[in-house]
Amino acid sequence: MTVRAVIKGVGHYLPERVVPNSEFEATLDTSDEWIRTRSGIERRHFAAEGETTSQLGAHAARAALKDAGLEADDIDMIIVATSTPDLTFPSVGTMIQKELGMTKGFAFDVQAVCAGFVYALSNANAQIVSGQAKRVLVIGAETFSRIMDWTDRSTCVLFGDGAGALVLEAQEGTGTSDDRGILSVDLNSDGNYRDMLYVDGGVSSTGDSGKLRMQGNALFRQAVSKLASTAETAMDKAGITAADIDWVVPHQANIRIIEGTAKKLGLPMDKIVVTVQDHGNTSAASIPLAMSVGKARGQIKQGDICVAEAIGGGLAWGAVVLRW
Ligand code: UT7
Repeated sequence: MTVRAVIKGVGHYLPERVVPNSEFEATLDTSDEWIRTRSGIERRHFAAEGETTSQLGAHAARAALKDAGLEADDIDMIIVATSTPDLTFPSVGTMIQKELGMTKGFAFDVQAVCAGFVYALSNANAQIVSGQAKRVLVIGAETFSRIMDWTDRSTCVLFGDGAGALVLEAQEGTGTSDDRGILSVDLNSDGNYRDMLYVDGGVSSTGDSGKLRMQGNALFRQAVSKLASTAETAMDKAGITAADIDWVVPHQANIRIIEGTAKKLGLPMDKIVVTVQDHGNTSAASIPLAMSVGKARGQIKQGDICVAEAIGGGLAWGAVVLRW
C-alpha cells in the first residue's frame, strides 16, 4: 500500500494595506516603470503595525480548514515555513496552534527562506508517509516588511507580506503518478552562496533581527538554472515529463525569472500561475498564496498535475510534483 499526502484544502490571507509601486517614488530614486519592467511587481501588501506573522498564518490556516470542511481539532500536525517569526521562540507553529484553539498534536517551524514552503511540504509528506501524522496544516507566512532597509532601493521594492496554507491528508494510493497527492520532492542547498541573500543580524551574532541584503543580479543568474534543474529532477522522480504538467506554481520573486524558467522547461506561460504583480516576493508564503489564488481563479482543478519550485537564501532550492 502506498500512502499519499493529498490536498484537502487551501487558503490564504493578505494584510489590508496595499502599497503600489508609485508610493516608493516619494522616498527613493526609483519609478513604477523600473519596478514593473525589472521585476513584474505592481503592488504588494504590508502588515499593519503590530500585525504579526502568526496572525497572518492563522487567518490563512482558517481559510484552508474551511475549504477542506475540517475543524482545527481534526489536525494533528502544523508546520510553518517562515524566516520572519513573531519571536525568536516559541515557534510560529505553536502560536498558530493556540490561536486555532488546538490542544493536541504538534507544531513547529522550518526555515529555508524563499524555498521554505517546498521544504515544509517535503517534511509534511514524510510525516504522513511514515504514519506520524494523518492531517497536516502546512503554512507559509511572512512579514518581510519588518526586515527591509527602506533606504535600499534594490531590495525594499521587491518584497511583501502574506500567508498561504494547505491541509494535507493521508490517503491510500496505488503508487503511480495517477494518484492524487504529493508524487515527488527534490531538495537542494549550498551554503557557499551565503552572501548572495542574507539578513545582517541575528540572535547569536548582532543580537537584533537585522536587514535583508541581496546580490540581486548574481542571484538572478543562479535562480533560472537551479529552478529548471530541480523541477526536472522532481518530474523524473515522479515519472512524468513537462508534457504532463497542468500548472507550474513558481516562487513569485520576479516575472523574468518565472518566464526564463518556463522557457527552459519548454512550457508556455499559460501553464504558469503568476501572482507576483499583486503580492511581490512574499518568500515562503508565495507558493501557497499562488496555489490559493490559482484555485480561486479556476486555474488549478482537482486532478491537475502541479509543479511547485522555489529558491532563496542559503542558497536553498527545491521542487515538489503533486496531483491536486
Ligand atoms: O526570493 C529569493 C529569490 N530572489 C531573487 O531571485 C531575486 C533575483 N534578482 C532579481 O529579481 C533582479 O536581479 C532584481 C529585480 C533584484 C534587479 O534586476 P536587474 O535587472 O538584475 O538589475 P541590476 O541589479 O543589474 O541593476 C540594474 C540597475 C542598477 O543601476 P546601474 O548600476 O546600472 O546604474 C541598479 O542600481 O538598476 C538599478 N536599480 C534600480 N533603479 C531604480 C536597482 N534597484 C532599482 C530601483 N529603481 N528600485
